[in-house]
Amino acid sequence: MKQAIPLSMIRAFKVNDEIRAYLLLKEKHLRLTREGKPYLDVLLSDRSGTIMGKIWEHAGDIEPMIETGAPVGVRAIVEDFRGRLQLNITRIVPVNEEDFSSKGFSWELILPHTEKNPERMWKFVEKMINKVNNPWLTSLLRLLIVDNQSKIMKHPASLRLHHAVSGGFLEHLVYMLNLGQHAAKQYKLDADLVITGILLHDIGKLEELSGYPDNSFTDEGQFLGHTALGYAMVENAIAEIPDFPPELRLKIHHILLSHHGQYEYQALKKPAFPEALLVHYLDELDVRVDMMKNAINQELDDGDWTSVNNYFRVPLYKKQTVNEDDGKRNEKQDTDKKPQGR
Ligand SMILES: [Fe+2]
Ligand SMILES: [Fe+2]
Repeated sequence: MKQAIPLSMIRAFKVNDEIRAYLLLKEKHLRLTREGKPYLDVLLSDRSGTIMGKIWEHAGDIEPMIETGAPVGVRAIVEDFRGRLQLNITRIVPVNEEDFSSKGFSWELILPHTEKNPERMWKFVEKMINKVNNPWLTSLLRLLIVDNQSKIMKHPASLRLHHAVSGGFLEHLVYMLNLGQHAAKQYKLDADLVITGILLHDIGKLEELSGYPDNSFTDEGQFLGHTALGYAMVENAIAEIPDFPPELRLKIHHILLSHHGQYEYQALKKPAFPEALLVHYLDELDVRVDMMKNAINQELDDGDWTSVNNYFRVPLYKKQTVNEDDGKRNEKQDTDKKPQGR
């Protein structure tokens, strides 16, 4: 690739730009034009966003050379396609860290990752685990959380829906824990159970999702889902802890099985005690707020309102979130002042 055009990222693309970028190939579909000429439809992403692209020339030759889930180097013209940005790709080549790091490629560029500091978030998780007084729950958290530290620090919380970034799983836990500790106190609930329930409610996602860079559902995830996988992980861990109290075992399982709240959202049970209800609502709250922020941030068009094409099915007001730099600055100052705050 020629070096003349500087590398850029999806969020900075504008109509008519000629761009050069390293992107992750998420999807590729070989199709035919009305005239019967093959072309490639691709979906590309980097850590700043996702964009569709078209390859009109030599599509049949290029298709087998590029691999879904792998990084590619792209040169393209940015076009407006029905109000959305799209790439007219003039060159696309597979890249790897070994050969292309000297040309500016790194996984950091293309894998979306949490904007929070994972080490700091992990410290907060450790602090919360240390607050748990119940020895059986402490043992359970050591086996399932502490022993999975390196995986938890990089895992996404979902593929697309919410916290779908490296470190997003950890971020989801930290946000829920932060709210949960206050809520448990406010409502005079069993804080040990709330903390444990939060930390374990999605533990099955460590097996449901393959993690980066592959980032897809595992076969176990497709067949069983994270609630059933989590149940098995918790059950196996409890089997390793002598004399684990039977009622506590059932309560932890119930929190996992009811955390989606409603049967239509794949909950096997509805929450049947306050700590389970709290974990469900904290999960719901954290997921929905993240989804709404993403829906607002991902819309690249000008204007104060998004379209209705989002989960919430209403136009979302963009203005307060557009000025996100200020928010980030304030947030950063806050965490800088209180390094252990999150
Ligand atoms: Fe879940
Ligand atoms: Fe969750």
